[in-house]
Amino acid sequence: MRNKITVVGAGNVGANCAVWAAKKELGDIVLVDISEGVPQGKGLDLLQASPVESFDVTITGANDYAPTANSDVVIITAGFPRKPGMSRDDLLLANYEVVKTATEKAVEVSPKATIIVVTNPLDAMAQVALMVSNFPKNRVIGMAGVLDSARFRTFIAQELNVSVTNVTAVVLGGHGDTMVPLVRLSSVAGIPLTELIPEDRLNAIVDRTRNGGAEIVKYLKTGSAYYAPAASAVEMADSILKDKKKVLPCAAYLEGEYGIDGLYVGVPCKLGSNGIEQIYEIKLTDEETAALHKSAGTVKELVDVIKSKMAA
Ligand SMILES: NC(=O)c1ccc[n+]([C@@H]2O[C@H](COP(=O)([O-])OP(=O)(O)OC[C@H]3O[C@@H](n4cnc5c(N)ncnc54)[C@H](O)[C@@H]3O)[C@@H](O)[C@H]2O)c1
Repeated sequence: MRNKITVVGAGNVGANCAVWAAKKELGDIVLVDISEGVPQGKGLDLLQASPVESFDVTITGANDYAPTANSDVVIITAGFPRKPGMSRDDLLLANYEVVKTATEKAVEVSPKATIIVVTNPLDAMAQVALMVSNFPKNRVIGMAGVLDSARFRTFIAQELNVSVTNVTAVVLGGHGDTMVPLVRLSSVAGIPLTELIPEDRLNAIVDRTRNGGAEIVKYLKTGSAYYAPAASAVEMADSILKDKKKVLPCAAYLEGEYGIDGLYVGVPCKLGSNGIEQIYEIKLTDEETAALHKSAGTVKELVDVIKSKMAA
């Protein structure tokens, strides 16, 4: 039996999730969107690339959730992207409604799925999906850290003119300007970054990573990044569906880890067939802990707004 992947939202991120997932033959793919004809058209178009690119999966599109039944993974990308000058947080209430509906409808027909949330503001939307689905916390995961660390790795590789595959980077915290790239634990083929890049340049790279999304929004003017975000979500789906047990930075629901309770925050996680199979607690310096807690504080502000809306 092939795996089944539902991608909710057939916009820029969703459609590219389908492309990466099809290329990797992760399973049959169903694209769902409220926009009539768009998921059907994009699905058919991508399917017609299969003879050229040699992938044997089916790709279909729908405006309802019946065809998504019994999905193994549901990737939620539905929502509105950021416009220039707009913070991820401005998206909060608009995307809350979208993620709530998408989650309710998706889990009704796929009660055993693992949900990967991509919609921004990411950490808060992951929490919405957890609350609405009533799934165990290991099966509701937010995508942010894979993308943030990929950006960090890209900039480090550019700086040193080395292969990106040699660069490992750890990024913790919420998906926003307060994210915490951990320079101390990032390396190039095991060589600490601090031995390779002077402090001022490193600070500039950390800054660019923190603003990696905004840099692209500024160029595009009418939308936000999608190739790397989609590839990142699919890397998570790949590790889950193939039980690879990759250790990836993900937004996970913390219950005491890192001294944070009842919030989604980016931390290193082992992803396998049971979703998040382990959360790794790294020993942090006082400064790093303070930065992580500051970042968690910004997530909490958003979650509090949502909780009061849900209670109303
Ligand atoms: N977590 C991350 O790192 C990350 C990275 C990039 C983008 N994002 C977020 O992903 C989301 C999607 O971005 P995009 O560039 O693909 O936007 P997009 O506008 O290209 O696509 C969004 C799609 O969602 C659809 N949609 C809206 N409401 C829906 C609903 N109720 N049900 C189903 N579909 C619905 C729209 O019709 C549209 O096709 C945004 O919230 C963006 O901020 C997150």
